[in-house]
Amino acid sequence: MWRYPATVLAHRGGGTLAPENTLAGLHQGMARGFRAIEYDVMLARDGVPVVMHDPCLGRTVAGTGNVFDYDARELAAMDAGGWFGRQYKGEPVPLFVEFAQFCKANGVWMNIEIKPAPGYDVQTGAVVARIVSAMFADEIAAGESERVPLLSSFSHAALLSAREAAPQVPRACLMSELRPDWERRAREVDAVAIHANHRHLTAGQAAQVKAAELALFCYTVNDPARARELLGWGVDAFCTDRIDLIGPGFPIG
Ligand code: G3P
Ligand code: MG
Repeated sequence: MWRYPATVLAHRGGGTLAPENTLAGLHQGMARGFRAIEYDVMLARDGVPVVMHDPCLGRTVAGTGNVFDYDARELAAMDAGGWFGRQYKGEPVPLFVEFAQFCKANGVWMNIEIKPAPGYDVQTGAVVARIVSAMFADEIAAGESERVPLLSSFSHAALLSAREAAPQVPRACLMSELRPDWERRAREVDAVAIHANHRHLTAGQAAQVKAAELALFCYTVNDPARARELLGWGVDAFCTDRIDLIGPGFPIG
């Protein structure tokens, strides 16, 4: 069975201690010892992927309109940090390739969530998978699976497309709730893992996922007691916003 290289991932790079999906957030996570993170990727107008959660500007990036209304270089010049605090003003929207290269160079393992803008599922899945496949070609060839990023998505179409473009890059199905067809969907994209919202997961479902020989990940777990409970159910790994409460060595450290 495929295995996560870490039990705890810093959600969106640095959880809620720094602006999400930025290099500053990643530095915050790394400063607390995290060497495994989750972050979100979508395409800009020119088809270049950027690190971003929302499909529109306004919440984390100053401005108006959709991410897809701008080229990547325009987004990279926008302020993705000022909303969080004055000291982060001017923190840019990262280009995915640069962000991933920084992670790779610093030994930070990546769960890359493919977050397609509406209507761009197939294109986003293929672009992200091809980039990861090229960036980690040596690790893939050497069978160093613990270093190759994991692609996850709520979008079945994006995962199918990622599989088509780069089958050797592992995939996980993101599901808020495990519906009755969860295993069929996972098999269709040849997934190695299920990524479930812990709020809706039951102990019985966790056991079913493990019995199906799939890895199991939960998002976004911010309470240490709940995290312990989930690990007790057989959950393999999870991401957290509270990197101040749940460290990379949890449950021991
Ligand atoms: O990948 C897990 C989690 O990040 C999914 O939800 O909205 O925080 O990207 P969201
Ligand atoms: Mg995400």
